[in-house]
Amino acid sequence: MVKFYDLQKITAMHGAEYKRAVERVIDSGWFLQGEENKRFEKHYAEYIGTKNCVAVANGLDALKLIIRAYKEMGVMSDGDEIIVPANTYIATIIAISDNNLVPVLVEPTWEHLEIDTDRIEEAITPRTKGIMIVHLYGRNAYNEKLKAICEKYHLKLMEDCAQAQGCRAYSQKRVGALGDAAAHSFYPGKNLGAFGDAGAVTTDDDELASVIRALANYGSQKKYVFKYIGMNSRMSELDAAVLDVKLKYLDEDNRKRQKLAAYYYDHISNPLITLPKRIPDENNVYHQFPIFCERRDELQEYLKQQGIQTLIHYPIPPHKQECYRKPTGGRLVYSALPITERIHEQELSIPMNQVVTEEEAKAVVEAINSFK
Ligand SMILES: Cc1ncc(COP(=O)(O)O)c(C=O)c1O
Repeated sequence: MVKFYDLQKITAMHGAEYKRAVERVIDSGWFLQGEENKRFEKHYAEYIGTKNCVAVANGLDALKLIIRAYKEMGVMSDGDEIIVPANTYIATIIAISDNNLVPVLVEPTWEHLEIDTDRIEEAITPRTKGIMIVHLYGRNAYNEKLKAICEKYHLKLMEDCAQAQGCRAYSQKRVGALGDAAAHSFYPGKNLGAFGDAGAVTTDDDELASVIRALANYGSQKKYVFKYIGMNSRMSELDAAVLDVKLKYLDEDNRKRQKLAAYYYDHISNPLITLPKRIPDENNVYHQFPIFCERRDELQEYLKQQGIQTLIHYPIPPHKQECYRKPTGGRLVYSALPITERIHEQELSIPMNQVVTEEEAKAVVEAINSFK
């Protein structure tokens, strides 16, 4: 059996260090807003390459808080539009509609699976206030054209980095330091995963960081004085301590993912399967390794019979979800989305992480290549 994601094995790699970190927090008797959060925020900001990092409770909150803060700062308001790839995880879209803004869905390219920069300008209206790119499956979605569009139309460039911690863009900057603000998720299954929910915002904008920090703490910058109607979205000291240990190993873990991806690219040769385009010199951190097949469900069942666990990311695209079909669901703007729909119909994620052994990788390839 090749597991899709063996979190027990992944955790055991540095188990003793995690236990020491957790014990330190328990002994300190201090569980929120303490030294562990400060240390992790400092190290993560240094790692990403931004002036600020604000630790929050999860990735969805990180996304929501960026938009909410822009509203408090007068940069965005109800009914404004944000351009977003149509093939993202629902959280990116919820963060926009929950703030009473309108998600405008743009197709990805079939080759890269990231937002199609050539289709962004046609989606811009006088109400467009920002572009939220998503570095999906671990691959950088940023390029210079995107930056030029944001400058031309005075748009905020926001990044959803939930699936791409550690990835460097072509400029050698890491994702999370490319736009005006970035959201990160440390959900346990992410490349940098906590022992529960956790997230962060990175930004060079000091004012934005300070508004987000207040909003995540009930809207307060001073104890019992409330400047905004905020929320409670803080990272626990336990998670901050664990993440600070894990961060040291992130680049090494990502290199293992890249080695496994290279093996898959070199050895998967079944004509029924399409692999994502391999881009020389790109720094993809392979949060997932998506493969595509017209008979995807049959392939998944076949691999299961061969002992290979797989997952679909994602079976239903956001624009077809029930939550956006109800009158309470908020408005989505989009035209035909054939590429998005094809991705959702054909995508299958195969085992991709730092503990897949050579033997397991070989078994995955053999099973895929023997599918007829
Ligand atoms: C692209 C993307 N954005 C946002 C999120 C939300 O992060 P979280 O689960 O920490 O709230 C996820 C998590 O799965 C994600 O994959």
